[in-house]
Amino acid sequence: MTKLDTRRPMPEDEVDLFLAFAQNEYRLDLSFYRKTFLGRRINVRMDAVEVNNLTEYLNLLKKDTQEWKKFLDNLSINVSEFFRDPEVFSYFKDNCLPGIFKNKEETGFKRIHCWSCGCSCGEETYSLAIMFREYSGRKNRDFFIKVSGTDVDQDALTKAKEAKYRQQSLGKVTPVILEKYFDNLGNDIYQVKKEIRESVDFKTHNLLTDNLIPNVDIIFFRNVRIYFNENKAGKILLKIYESLRKNGYLVLGKVETLGSLKNLFEPVSINNKIFRKI
Ligand SMILES: C[S@@+](CC[C@H](N)C(=O)[O-])C[C@H]1O[C@@H](n2cnc3c(N)ncnc32)[C@H](O)[C@@H]1O
Repeated sequence: MTKLDTRRPMPEDEVDLFLAFAQNEYRLDLSFYRKTFLGRRINVRMDAVEVNNLTEYLNLLKKDTQEWKKFLDNLSINVSEFFRDPEVFSYFKDNCLPGIFKNKEETGFKRIHCWSCGCSCGEETYSLAIMFREYSGRKNRDFFIKVSGTDVDQDALTKAKEAKYRQQSLGKVTPVILEKYFDNLGNDIYQVKKEIRESVDFKTHNLLTDNLIPNVDIIFFRNVRIYFNENKAGKILLKIYESLRKNGYLVLGKVETLGSLKNLFEPVSINNKIFRKI
């Protein structure tokens, strides 16, 4: 059993103390984070530096700006993998892409923009680019498909651009896809092939402060909502709604919900958390 397993969940009043500390000492408002999430992240750092209680940790944070930086870094957890929840990608490819392509064909506007929002180190973004390539192959060559990945974490984006991954991120990639879209560089490292790398772009983007990308057809906003409290998550989802084109698709993480914004979207697949803008 790890220390993390044995540590009790942080009581809300202690998280409040931490929030007041961040505000007073570092002028940082962290109140939009879920308290349970913050409590867990504080516990992670307290374990890492081996302090026994919050008072000790706050004393350390007062004098050690490096530890403050580490705390901030650990707020942004970048856990991801290629084709995370693979059934979502296959459902989307088989049931949503045909309609999207058909509508575009009918309007004559053959551009599709897909946004992986909170893309971590690029695994989701490249999975989407591969999904498109697998769907459209040669028959839709005259379509212009843009896949963008954005994240607040610069280090994650640097890794995304390098596109080099270890086997552990590739567990859900079938041997055929691995062979087709990855170069085996040896030493357990695989790099996404150039043709896929060139079909995506990555940018720094903070969901809390930056303007959203307009006129997007598909937004994958998965496993990012967990960071924010209901109020902030609602505001971010509203911005996402506005950045989607009419009938645009929104895909959330498997355990995430639309909360108070559910009337703005119609469910396409409840199980796969796929919604369409009304
Ligand atoms: C758990 S990862 C999700 C990666 C991918 N979407 C997936 O489902 O596998 C969450 C990502 O959200 C990013 N994130 C956290 N706060 C953010 C913010 N304010 N703006 C943009 N991205 C943020 C983190 O940096 C992290 O890379």
